[in-house]
Amino acid sequence: MKDRILRIFHDLAPQPDALVFVNSIEPHLDQSFFYVFDTASGLFEGSAAIALPDGSLHVSTSQLEEESALQAAKHDPHVDVHLVKKMDDRKSWFAKMLPAGGTIGLNFHELTHEDYLSLAGGLPKATWSDVGAAVRKARRVKDAREVERIREAARIGSVVGEEIPSMLKRGITESELASEIEYRMMRLGASGRSFATIVGFGAHSAEPHYSPASTKLEPGMSIVCDFGAFYHRYASDITRSFRFGPTDPELKRVHETVEAAQQASFAAIRAGVPGKEVHLAAQRVIDASPWKGRFTHGVGHSIGLAVHDGYGMGDSTEDPLETGMAITVEPGIYLPGKGGVRIEDDVLVTANGFEALTTTRRSYLEVPG
Ligand code: GLY
Ligand code: MN
Repeated sequence: MKDRILRIFHDLAPQPDALVFVNSIEPHLDQSFFYVFDTASGLFEGSAAIALPDGSLHVSTSQLEEESALQAAKHDPHVDVHLVKKMDDRKSWFAKMLPAGGTIGLNFHELTHEDYLSLAGGLPKATWSDVGAAVRKARRVKDAREVERIREAARIGSVVGEEIPSMLKRGITESELASEIEYRMMRLGASGRSFATIVGFGAHSAEPHYSPASTKLEPGMSIVCDFGAFYHRYASDITRSFRFGPTDPELKRVHETVEAAQQASFAAIRAGVPGKEVHLAAQRVIDASPWKGRFTHGVGHSIGLAVHDGYGMGDSTEDPLETGMAITVEPGIYLPGKGGVRIEDDVLVTANGFEALTTTRRSYLEVPG
């Protein structure tokens, strides 16, 4: 995509002769490959993309994705697709396409060391530099096509979020609920989940990155569900917390506090504000509550081609929000051994505030057990 390639080059001084994005084997794919080459379908293992300062792009593909690559190139006059049938042939493709003594920018952040050594071994006179920061900066602000996809990913997540209370039945396991959430997202048009769905019951709900297992839902358990959809490679990320069966006055107040913390963060969001202000707005609310110290992570992160797309908001994030960034806002309070509450929504940053992308109702749902 010419405009995206130009955005990356624009941020580099001096400009390298070329940028190279190299995919290894799943899951070691460079998501930035899909930033410069906009194709919704295909794994593209072993593929590479060479972007030039005029915005043109050369993509190598195996036969596995040839059709998908050619379809994508049809819609983009700046893309040339090269069939490189065997991994072994990629080295000679690089040698043919890149200037022998040139300066080449690489995205170290998503390049495997093995691929780097292979690339460097094939072009011993080239000079290599890390352009990861410029790539991340360009990816931070979403263009209209990206926003459209994130909006749809968020819509899918929101619809399924509304349906969760109806799925909460005595005896359902965390894994069963997680798979039902993922199934419903795909039924609504998602290509898959944007990360491994988190469903935690009871004390597990106090573990922010818990992996669902065989625990069965019983009355008196708290529930945290954190999930997201991929739509045309773009992610959403949403969390809702519930209570099954008899209420727990403490967790009810915890939920009210997390809701208030999230509202405080929302009020801080607008272009130009350092990320830490969004985090600290939530932290101040929680620090003023009986659960000071139980908010144990940053308040949010950017979403895009990856669910954690390169920008995070913690208590020391000086980098400001920019119009067009898509971010999560997800304060939480975790009481080890008892349960936790997290509420997470996705928003698009605007000059004066934000636009909400996820719409699932947030109030604490106490589902009869
Ligand atoms: N959705 C999981 C996380 O943001 O860490
Ligand atoms: Mn998140």
